[in-house]
Amino acid sequence: MKKLEGKVALVTGSGRGIGREVAHQLAAYGAKVVVNDLDQAPADEVVAEIRAAGGEAVACVGSVTAVDFPERFVKTAVDTYGGIDIIVNNAGYTWDNVIQKMSDEQWYAIMDCHLTAPFRILRAAQPFISAAAKKEAAEGKEVFRKIVNISSGAAGGNVGQTNYSSAKAGIMGMTKTLAKEWGRLKVNVNCIAFGHIETRLTEPFAGADSKTVNIEGREIKVGISEQLVERAKTGIPLGRPGTPKEAAGSVLLFCLPESNYLSGQVLYCAGGPR
Ligand SMILES: NC(=O)c1ccc[n+]([C@@H]2O[C@H](COP(=O)([O-])OP(=O)(O)OC[C@H]3O[C@@H](n4cnc5c(N)ncnc54)[C@H](O)[C@@H]3O)[C@@H](O)[C@H]2O)c1
Repeated sequence: MKKLEGKVALVTGSGRGIGREVAHQLAAYGAKVVVNDLDQAPADEVVAEIRAAGGEAVACVGSVTAVDFPERFVKTAVDTYGGIDIIVNNAGYTWDNVIQKMSDEQWYAIMDCHLTAPFRILRAAQPFISAAAKKEAAEGKEVFRKIVNISSGAAGGNVGQTNYSSAKAGIMGMTKTLAKEWGRLKVNVNCIAFGHIETRLTEPFAGADSKTVNIEGREIKVGISEQLVERAKTGIPLGRPGTPKEAAGSVLLFCLPESNYLSGQVLYCAGGPR
């Protein structure tokens, strides 16, 4: 029997990058996955790949910041697979500028995506989790559920990322609070802070030809400067950036039964210590 057989996992932003690998790894361990992304095509592709490999997955497309999204996400999991066992709050992007050039719009967009959306998703899941945990306790069963919130080394400070670093530091606090609130429900709430992982988020800028991505109608430049890419490569004890597969492996660790007595922790997945 696979270690996550019968479990239902919800993964935001799993159409690309790290989230995509998380969805694949959870499915390979037997979990049924609710795949979310802003964009329909990559979400559908991940669902098709999981099904082709013999797993189970369904898409729930839309922005995590939409007011009706959390209820819809939770409902998709409960209606399709009858439960919620794992939630990975991964969806995200960066929209950088130094503080004097950062607009309110930029501040709130990033806070909404990286901090408010996880809060709302977890709040929406609470009634189901609480009812399930109470029922299991009454039957004398101890069933662990898993929340993995995705943070960043940027929580420790990064020039040009007042919005992002504040949100990523905030989610560490949310993780610790919920680990305390939800301990009685047997929910392990943990956080992974990534260092430099090679995805479109960390591709080098190409001057005026920089790639932009469309996030909720806004064209946002993605990537980091060549200088930062080089600095990142030389500063990593393991000698290179991580791959999305390696990053997803750290999320998987917090979803396995082996981590049932770990809660409220922040794990740096950065090829070395922070
Ligand atoms: N790549 C890194 O080095 C790195 C480092 C630290 C933290 N992170 C964090 O890891 C997470 C995943 O990033 P990634 O590197 O895989 O980036 P990515 O761009 O490859 O993938 C992110 C996915 O999230 C989706 N997304 C963005 N906004 C969304 C929204 N509002 N609603 C739903 N989906 C949305 C995107 O469409 C995309 O498919 C993010 O939270 C990011 O901040 C990444």
